[in-house]
Amino acid sequence: MECQIGVISGDGIGPEIVTEAKKVLDQVGKKYGHNFRYTEILMGGCSIDATGVPLTDDAIETAKASDAVLMGSIGGNTSTSPWYKLAPELRPEAGLLKLRKSLNLFANLRPAYLYEELKEACPLRDDIIGDGFDMMIMRELTGGLYFGERKTEEVDGVVTATDILTYNENEIRRIAKRGFDIAMKRCKKVTSVDKANVLDSSRLWRKVVEEVAKDYPEVTYEHMLVDNCAMQLVKDPKQFDVILTENMFGDILSDEASMVTGSIGMLSSASLNDTKFGLYEPSGGSAPDIAGKGIANPIATILSAAMMLRYSFDLDKEADAIENAVKQVLKEGYRTIDIMPQAGESKDGITQVGTVKMGDLIAERV
Ligand code: IPM
Ligand code: MG
Repeated sequence: MECQIGVISGDGIGPEIVTEAKKVLDQVGKKYGHNFRYTEILMGGCSIDATGVPLTDDAIETAKASDAVLMGSIGGNTSTSPWYKLAPELRPEAGLLKLRKSLNLFANLRPAYLYEELKEACPLRDDIIGDGFDMMIMRELTGGLYFGERKTEEVDGVVTATDILTYNENEIRRIAKRGFDIAMKRCKKVTSVDKANVLDSSRLWRKVVEEVAKDYPEVTYEHMLVDNCAMQLVKDPKQFDVILTENMFGDILSDEASMVTGSIGMLSSASLNDTKFGLYEPSGGSAPDIAGKGIANPIATILSAAMMLRYSFDLDKEADAIENAVKQVLKEGYRTIDIMPQAGESKDGITQVGTVKMGDLIAERV
């Protein structure tokens, strides 16, 4: 198969982790007879430095012309980087939001899975972890607070900021359907998360999810308030299969879920629209504090590449090969620093490796 992949290396640790994901993809290509061709796309701080804006129209066109886009991470240190002295619409993150919106990537899938080998890295007690957990956070990605009108103005001499949270029923319906479709392929349970005790947008969310649920009689579903969900994620994460939620809640809950899987460096994600196209990116950020040190964990990006093979190219066998290679490497005791056992825990059979070595080990086991 010929695949044209747009690559956004981005900022911070982005270029380091993307290099490893491409290494693993190339190995898959060699072994299974596919040709992955890459076109670099500038986005984020590196695009600001080169063009003055975080994402050019040309870059959007290149992304649209690709079969899928693989991304590292964008942005810098929000207190020290000069990028954050620019107007908000010129900052690195604005590029990512523009890309998501321009490509209509409304469905963000963030799997949070606890590897048997990483139980030690999970901050929860053993009795809570039990046999581990495996959930899929389905985050709506092109609506809500992220895309509502916002302004800062003086009202009667007082500086006042406003961000508007809007959802229409169609936006809710399409993500809800995706969530239930995915639940059908998993454990057939949907937890729809909202704040319906306070917000109108959440009350509409709940009503539309109930309508969609009628078409999926095999799927058990429940509603959960977002504050309770934040608590349940650390109290009993095993209860979740698919968590279906709006943009901002999904942003926050997915970081929380990633931490209970051990490290944000393990969490992949896929952002999809109504076609086979997708944007695949680790859920973590650009980690400017460790950029260039060769210690970043490339696994989330490598697993995002596996999601790309599965969802955009229907290469399930190849995606399995990457996921199994990751499991194998963890089983053999290789760890980047973020998933190393903590002080006081046994390091028997554990070898700490850097970014490049981790990529090599996974590629060798594909
Ligand atoms: C994420 C990130 C982004 C978001 C930022 C970088 C704009 O935190 O993908 O979760 O909030 O969506
Ligand atoms: Mg986030």
